[in-house]
Amino acid sequence: MTLDPPAEGPAARARPMVLAIGGSPRAGGNSDILIERFLLGAARTGARTDTIQLRDLDFTPCIGCEMCRTTHECSRFEDDLTAVYPAIVEARGLVLVSPVHNYNITAWVKGFIDRLYCFYDFTEPRPGPWSTRLQGQGRTAAVAAVAEQPEIDDIVRALDAMRRPLEALGYAVDYQLPVARLFGKGAVAECPEILETAERYGEMLGEAILDDEVPDGEQGP
Ligand SMILES: Cc1cc2nc3c(=O)[nH]c(=O)nc-3n(C[C@H](O)[C@H](O)[C@H](O)COP(=O)(O)O)c2cc1C
Repeated sequence: MTLDPPAEGPAARARPMVLAIGGSPRAGGNSDILIERFLLGAARTGARTDTIQLRDLDFTPCIGCEMCRTTHECSRFEDDLTAVYPAIVEARGLVLVSPVHNYNITAWVKGFIDRLYCFYDFTEPRPGPWSTRLQGQGRTAAVAAVAEQPEIDDIVRALDAMRRPLEALGYAVDYQLPVARLFGKGAVAECPEILETAERYGEMLGEAILDDEVPDGEQGP
């Protein structure tokens, strides 16, 4: 995890944050390189950027204890995701990247997404209306999935597995990058068009959250 220290002072607060979450177990692989390029583009807009590699964290998947329904935080686990929650709240731009593993996102990404359940507010009786404490704050996200095989359905499945939960949480998932036919570690470095697209999406994401600045006091919990 490479979280920056919390932003301090009015100038720092005025620069929105783009947080990238990496879901590959392979350090220096294709997902990592894509993240670097997304954040290069985002940084060009003046946004602050940070990266969290899920492989570096020790965390437990959601066990469905439902304690967060009453406590509004993950009260069951005190693990490496505990420090990540404030960063998620602070960052109105999110980049989520996963390699395709067995036709879907990696176990790390799924485990991470399920632990975001604590941001939901549910009404009784269930099933009923629900809301989230991340919605209505101009949050914008980019998702990318990288696969060895050419089958677009498998890549779209992985993109959907990230896009749908993020949309439910309140993000506008405006940028989706499917990447096929890449197997070797770092092979994407030889694909200038894909790198340029990641950089451009990162820049657009940074601009989107700059344009949509939330007035002081209206940020989420
Ligand atoms: C356990 C495992 C399962 C994989 N399953 C698939 C798959 O279902 N479809 C596919 O196209 N590639 C699959 N791959 C290949 C990776 O998606 C591919 O090598 C990708 O470029 C890895 O990205 P990374 O360097 O960011 O880890 C798999 C790789 C591993 C290690």
